[in-house]
Amino acid sequence: MKKKVAIMGATGMVGQRFVSLLENHPFFEVTSLYGSSKSKGKKYGDVVQWVLEKDIPQYAKDMVVKSFEESPEVEESIVFSALPSDVADTLEVELAKSGHFVFSNTSSHRYDRFIPILIPEVNPDHIEAVKYQGTKGFIITNANCSTTGLVIPLKALTERFKISNLFVVTMQAISGAGIHGLYALDIHGNILPYIANEEEKIERETKKILGTFDGEFKDFELEIFARTNRVPVREGHTEVVFLEVEAYLPEIISALKEFKGVPQELKLPTAPEKPIVVFEDPLRPQPVLDVNKGNGMSVSVGRIKLKGSTLTFTVLSHNTIRGAAGGSVLNAELAYVKGLI
Ligand SMILES: NC(=O)c1ccc[n+]([C@@H]2O[C@H](COP(=O)([O-])OP(=O)(O)OC[C@H]3O[C@@H](n4cnc5c(N)ncnc54)[C@H](OP(=O)(O)O)[C@@H]3O)[C@@H](O)[C@H]2O)c1
Repeated sequence: MKKKVAIMGATGMVGQRFVSLLENHPFFEVTSLYGSSKSKGKKYGDVVQWVLEKDIPQYAKDMVVKSFEESPEVEESIVFSALPSDVADTLEVELAKSGHFVFSNTSSHRYDRFIPILIPEVNPDHIEAVKYQGTKGFIITNANCSTTGLVIPLKALTERFKISNLFVVTMQAISGAGIHGLYALDIHGNILPYIANEEEKIERETKKILGTFDGEFKDFELEIFARTNRVPVREGHTEVVFLEVEAYLPEIISALKEFKGVPQELKLPTAPEKPIVVFEDPLRPQPVLDVNKGNGMSVSVGRIKLKGSTLTFTVLSHNTIRGAAGGSVLNAELAYVKGLI
């Protein structure tokens, strides 16, 4: 029998992805959709400003949106959270205390002592941290959307080679700012050279994710310098990466092409066959052509060059699928097959 799940923040950018990705899911069935008090009591199909390419799934259209004020008791034990961080700060903790398994997209708890930032291809063993949380339920977060695209190829490299001194420059999509996040006049035909807190998140999260968990998290040692930009692209964060590596180009390309992880071994339903798609064509990857590789769950890597020991490449990943809702669903699938939920 499928496990019942609730989606919090279901009307937003990430919430809509959850609603779409969880249609006909083999493990999970969506039985509640939550929004803010402004949406409560209305049919999802009437209140949502739907922005995805695929239509609103039939199952969701007539569901009545709930809010916490109306029903503070959440019936479902599994909660997919796409809440703003100020709401998630306390609510996700309350949910975990009362026995819910929360799969979160917000940054609120990413640095908490026993909360993993889980990317199942990269650090599946970090899931063990939930056993130390001391609550009936738990919180598992996924990474910031630009961190996710970065750490997957980094893991492929660190598995085989020593790396150091990483520089990354991002070109991040509009959808990363949320459904009402940007004014058209600010971003149309323009580039915004700053995204609040994003550079710090990339630097901090990358080290935690690539690090170890052995009763406590220990950061991976790496100097990271990130610069983030918002660009007029609808979906897909592109990042240009420079780092020092002790390896030859053919073995670097093989490491990226051959990379696979636990989700592929376990054949988890949302796992892409190839976590990394490598391009030799210098004009790829492009958001318009490549953002949906592996149903939005593969990251695309191209422009790979090695000059001395300096490696550079360009990576593209889907910010609301691999970097948000799809990443959370994959985390829940791993927890499910491990018997944790
Ligand atoms: N967008 C991305 O690419 C991305 C990627 C990774 C992580 N994230 C994170 O995921 C979270 C959601 O982001 P988003 O882009 O989906 O934001 P969004 O489009 O602005 O959606 C926010 C959602 O939260 C609900 N909400 C707002 N205030 C609330 C309140 N006081 N109580 C309960 N619900 C409330 C909204 O409901 P109403 O419509 O009813 O107001 C809406 O469903 C954020 O923490 C963000 O940092 C986003």
